[in-house]
Amino acid sequence: MSALRHVATAAGGSPARPVPAPWGTDPDLDRLIVAQDELQAVVRSLGERISAEHRSRSGDPLLCVAVLKGAFLFMADLARAITCPVEFDFMAVSSYGAATKTSGVVRIVKDLDADLSGRHVLVVEDVVDSGLTLSWLRKNLWARSPASLEVCALLVKEGLQRRDPDLRYEGFRIPPDFVVGYGLDVDERYRNLPFICTYAPR
Ligand code: IMP
Ligand code: MG
Repeated sequence: MSALRHVATAAGGSPARPVPAPWGTDPDLDRLIVAQDELQAVVRSLGERISAEHRSRSGDPLLCVAVLKGAFLFMADLARAITCPVEFDFMAVSSYGAATKTSGVVRIVKDLDADLSGRHVLVVEDVVDSGLTLSWLRKNLWARSPASLEVCALLVKEGLQRRDPDLRYEGFRIPPDFVVGYGLDVDERYRNLPFICTYAPR
């Protein structure tokens, strides 16, 4: 279903790509994972598919729900690539705190404004790591009686989900390393990078 892009891993034999200037001098940023032009091309094609598929299903506006804060840049770019009638809402959940390992404990920090009942809902996520946040979110949102509930995740970490995360749309499969940039942070830093790279403090 999805046009998967498998990003080169070091184990795959491709040479590691350097982090672009001016961020390349930061000693904690290690390898480029997804470049800016790769993000743009994939986000554009996701927007086209989402629009075409929604248009063929319903004349009602699609409701895109971004999971903050990580999905804020992805949502902003995806919004401009969607051409069907669409509305936006935002939800903030916290699963990590300041650590770089999932806790499995999800807390709603900001809930949606919209009533989901009878709506076609597309959840827009930054990254599926263990998949715990997403499976919790799916259960929580299904309980609000949407007409449909699908997920668009920009990144999926390879081999880390115990269950199939069941994503209608996905951008990139990436190695199971901790990454930052394009909305993703470590301790609130690096969300502004226009690309995605690994974070490896030395
Ligand atoms: P999961 O519950 O393990 O799938 O983790 C999901 C959430 O953890 C994501 O929505 C992110 O907010 C955060 N997260 C997971 N991996 C990373 C990463 O590599 N960098 C930054 N945040 C991450
Ligand atoms: Mg997130």
